[in-house]
Amino acid sequence: MIQDRIVTQDRIILGVESSCDETGVGVVRLGADGSLELLADEVASSVEEHARFGGVVPEVASRAHLEAMVPTMRRALTAAGVALSDVHAVAVTAGPGLAGALLVGVSAAKAYAAAHGLPLYGVNHLAGHVAADTLQHGPLPSPCLALLVSGGHSSLLLVEDLASKITEIGSTIDDAAGEAYDKVARVLDLPYPGGPPIDRLAKQGNGCAIAFPRGLTGPRDAKYDFSFSGLKTAVARWVENRERDGLAVPVADVAASFQEAVADVLTAKAVRAVREFGLDTLVISGGVAANSRLSALAAQRCEAAGIRLRVPRPKLCTDNGAMIAAVGAHLVAAGAEPSGLGLVTDPGLPVSTVSMG
Ligand code: KG4
Ligand code: ZN
Repeated sequence: MIQDRIVTQDRIILGVESSCDETGVGVVRLGADGSLELLADEVASSVEEHARFGGVVPEVASRAHLEAMVPTMRRALTAAGVALSDVHAVAVTAGPGLAGALLVGVSAAKAYAAAHGLPLYGVNHLAGHVAADTLQHGPLPSPCLALLVSGGHSSLLLVEDLASKITEIGSTIDDAAGEAYDKVARVLDLPYPGGPPIDRLAKQGNGCAIAFPRGLTGPRDAKYDFSFSGLKTAVARWVENRERDGLAVPVADVAASFQEAVADVLTAKAVRAVREFGLDTLVISGGVAANSRLSALAAQRCEAAGIRLRVPRPKLCTDNGAMIAAVGAHLVAAGAEPSGLGLVTDPGLPVSTVSMG
């Protein structure tokens, strides 16, 4: 067993990500003392190929992964200044994600592992989003709470051990937060993905101009679950009504008021969960964590509640291979069994399965 050996050397861990529209390869150095150092984080995105469809087209994403995988791997190894012969283990996203896209990454990781006789770890993409923060801010206190907000997920996670114990305490019952941004952007004639243009436009608007609904915030509602579908519909109806009445649509105010509703609900529920579970640290990750209003409101509410807030830099928030290498490093450090070359993908992998047996 790995943990029974006295480890005196640094170990290089490779991470491969391909669950959605980003092909990511990351390289992380796991120090003998358990510390993590990010050596490379290379990403090739097919987002522009999906833009005209207003969302990710799975077949287009799979094809793009196939084309980008080897060049991205080469760029990452060069940037890290390591050769494949220096690598100690390979970690790859096994789920959740798009079935075809996952298969490309797992097949590539298997090939690299088999060719170089390396242990292979199939890991959970959502655990990766949380682990990304440890590359920037060091080890996470255990337990802590993570708010994961991306184009595909909106969840509150109780993180007891990044290598083995993550429990979902709440999630969206309909649209993910990022999905709501993308759909509202379409209503406002803004480009895909909708998060960045709405974020920019909202800075010129008034977040209190329109009182959009805050989903699942009533006294009888599930306190840690989210719902953004009603909000998206409310924005669309509001805009339609203005247009029907021949009035101009104050786009910046709509963007700011929508953004305020999202940030309000996400931060209120996250802070409540941290308090009720008796924790002291909140990590926010995933593409929507790059949102300026979300981080500002989270900072304000966490400070008022005496909670430490950790938000990784935007490049670590969106999908990347470094976060997968980070989970791999935590698994290697914990002496976890590798998944082996029989590893299968699971598009619906629950967050409670951090690594595939
Ligand atoms: O984590 P991510 O890169 O991919 C998924 O796993 O989904 O997240 C992408 C999502 C998109 O929906 C995008 O609109 C949203 O993150 N996003 C933002 C911002 N930047 C990206 N949402 C709000 N504000 C932003 N600044
Ligand atoms: Zn993601």
